[in-house]
Amino acid sequence: MSSGEHETRCENARVNPPADTPLAAARTLQLRQPDDWHLHLRDGAALEAVLPYTARQFARAIVMPNLRPPVTTAAAAVAYRQRILAALPAGLAFEPLMTLYLTDNTPPDEIRRARDAGVVALKLYPAGATTNSDAGVTDIRKTRATLEAMQREGLLLLVHGEVTDAEIDIFDREAVFIDRVMQPLRRDFPELKVVFEHITTAEAAQYVAEAPGPTAATLTAHHLLYNRNALFTGGLRPHYYCLPVLKKERHRVALVQAATSGNPRFFLGTDSAPHAAAMKEQSVCGAGCFTAPAALELYAEAFEAAGALDKFEAFASLNGPAFYGLPVNEGRITLKREPWALPETLPFGDALIKPLRAGDTLNWKMCP
Ligand code: NCD
Ligand code: ZN
Repeated sequence: MSSGEHETRCENARVNPPADTPLAAARTLQLRQPDDWHLHLRDGAALEAVLPYTARQFARAIVMPNLRPPVTTAAAAVAYRQRILAALPAGLAFEPLMTLYLTDNTPPDEIRRARDAGVVALKLYPAGATTNSDAGVTDIRKTRATLEAMQREGLLLLVHGEVTDAEIDIFDREAVFIDRVMQPLRRDFPELKVVFEHITTAEAAQYVAEAPGPTAATLTAHHLLYNRNALFTGGLRPHYYCLPVLKKERHRVALVQAATSGNPRFFLGTDSAPHAAAMKEQSVCGAGCFTAPAALELYAEAFEAAGALDKFEAFASLNGPAFYGLPVNEGRITLKREPWALPETLPFGDALIKPLRAGDTLNWKMCP
């Protein structure tokens, strides 16, 4: 190995390039440690299998409550938090930020208990919109008193922004949600902090950029990297199937533009959603892309392709804490330009799981 090559290896990548090195040519990228503002960790053996990937990259994550049964009470969130911490490998520091699953019947009283238990947000799933969302909200008007309590107590509302009406084409469900739900919600609860989760359309990006009140959006790596062709390249590709489903190229371009714009309303949320490979590869395939094993590498690829690596730290590490009203992390992480192959499969309890891009070579690698 030549000394030149040696310099590119992770163990020597402690510093950013000199200030005059163009970022486009940078071999290393050092960032304040990021957080994942939208994550599915599951429970039991699945939790144990997937948690280390996230805890290695992120200091904190907003943990989705769509377990079976869903996490609907402060007590259940506290118990789930304990199970997550118990599953954390020794030596890894990680803070799960807990959420409750909003139902038609979440009592307004539960909001104070949730706040006192450290819960930071409630998740609105329109009933039937996605994986484990049967207990979701059937009509947002039923949750009015609870949303008022959240606005008062300072808990955030995280929304899965798709209508579930079978009459509406699946590719239009996010845009219709803006008119039917987001606009009235913003009007009726002007102080409520609302995160439009994993946005997938130009319409949602524009709405979030212009919306009144404290409004933000998370963006996944897969929606920044792929359009809906990825679902059908050479055959049906179940590992690219997630909800909201990938959209046309013009939407992907608008999402990249939003993520790299420097607008603090847009930040990182992987929506890493693990499902066993056998479950993805069958006649009815569950929705969700498992991106946690290479989340930051995938985002770096998207920012690099846009020539916007200089905007990556704000998106990954600064904008989310600012919106949630939390301090930024003190630690630093380093990504290195170093090709490596993502494994074909990874253990998942008694089963196997395939990460998005399984078997592919990635160009960025997070240093251990
Ligand atoms: C998520 C899951 O598997 O829990 N799936 C997905 O496609 N994103 C649910 C969700 O966030 O919609
Ligand atoms: Zn999700």
